[in-house]
Amino acid sequence: MSEQAGTGPRRILCGKVLSFVRRPTGQGDRESYRFHPNGIVVVEGGRVAAVADAAALDDWRTPGTVVDDHGDRLILPGFIDTHIHFPQTRVIASYGTQLLEWLSRYTFPSEMRYADRDVADAGARFFIAELLRNGTTTAVAYGSSHLGAAEAFFEESERRGTLMLAGKTMMDRNAPEALCDTAESGYRDTTALIKAWHRRGRQRVVVTPRFAITSTPAQLEAAGALARENPDCLIQTHMSENLREIAYTAELYPDRAGYLDVYDHYGLIGPRTLLGHCIHLRPDEIARMSEAGAVAVFCPTSNLFIGSGLFDHDGLERGPRPVRIGLATDVGGGTSYSMLATAAEAYKVMQLKGQTLSALQAFDQITRANAAAIGEGDGIGRIEPGLTADLVVLDARATPAMAHRMEAVDGDLEEELFVLMTMGDDRAVAATYVAGERV
Ligand code: GUN
Ligand code: ZN
Repeated sequence: MSEQAGTGPRRILCGKVLSFVRRPTGQGDRESYRFHPNGIVVVEGGRVAAVADAAALDDWRTPGTVVDDHGDRLILPGFIDTHIHFPQTRVIASYGTQLLEWLSRYTFPSEMRYADRDVADAGARFFIAELLRNGTTTAVAYGSSHLGAAEAFFEESERRGTLMLAGKTMMDRNAPEALCDTAESGYRDTTALIKAWHRRGRQRVVVTPRFAITSTPAQLEAAGALARENPDCLIQTHMSENLREIAYTAELYPDRAGYLDVYDHYGLIGPRTLLGHCIHLRPDEIARMSEAGAVAVFCPTSNLFIGSGLFDHDGLERGPRPVRIGLATDVGGGTSYSMLATAAEAYKVMQLKGQTLSALQAFDQITRANAAAIGEGDGIGRIEPGLTADLVVLDARATPAMAHRMEAVDGDLEEELFVLMTMGDDRAVAATYVAGERV
């Protein structure tokens, strides 16, 4: 099956076209992006054929070309969410607990429903539609522990033509029996999922042990075997989110030097590893993550909502041993599907740490940098010829309050982006394109 979902006629989008080429150093770093204030994106066969100034429109317009005029709205690469839970759409906004109680009281019961294939099918339809409504065209998702739910997810993603990465969550202890697999069945089901779905079109399977507390040593061993046998698959898990979680992990794995060492011991730490949260890290763990090229995934709305702590963004990214970073919603611990709202909360967490996040850095993170963090930087995350035309169109005047605020913005791109990330959410998403098709 071909990698590309979109076909159809040539399509041209008109608007303000923005795409990043590297990490912005801060405000005013004009070399970090390419911007066409009056631009066009030419799309053919699901891919970007050209990016140009609008003056070139007639050169590209052929009979049958569809032209979508987005006026002075911004056209960006579709957003990428590097950590989200597909079966937690009804867990979002659950009251009054921190991580371990939140899991047992709300999350595990909700995920148990996904044993039912009809629930999983309906859940997958809602989930992917909601992502697209928020301008998110790619996500790295945890499933439930049920193979059928992961299959439902990939079937829906294939139907929508999206590039999605997901795993069947492996968990064989410290959870209700109905949600537990075994070391052996977790291995078998993940292997079956990889055979059926990994790199089938735009779908990718991720090796997904939930976290050390819900996996026996035998299961982490099996996860390590999966990682070894499938060198092309990402690995995702949670780490150092909550102090009680860290203490319990130390009790369960007394022979290991620390939380990271639990995963490292089983061969789960490397450049394909996404570690959700990473709030309470020791210097030696930061050094090891840096050396291994593992990614720390910052989930600000979740970390605030579950009361987990404040991620040390600059301590990781700009420290002596820099760590790769992803940004993510972590719904249903997270409180919004919107990567704009997520960027706003990242900014606030960083303010509380005496750090700042410029609008350029934020929009680079949720597009190009998140694509790089998940190993998909060659195909998505930028608007350049040859890359897939997964795009989002943003309206900085989407609400009365935003339109009012924008009256004070005199054509300055960075200011407009900052208004969008601070005040924007799904209402600011004027259109989403998946492989060149408007959805
Ligand atoms: N740690 C283990 N499982 C989960 C989960 O579902 N959400 C969050 N936020 N942390 C976890
Ligand atoms: Zn999570």
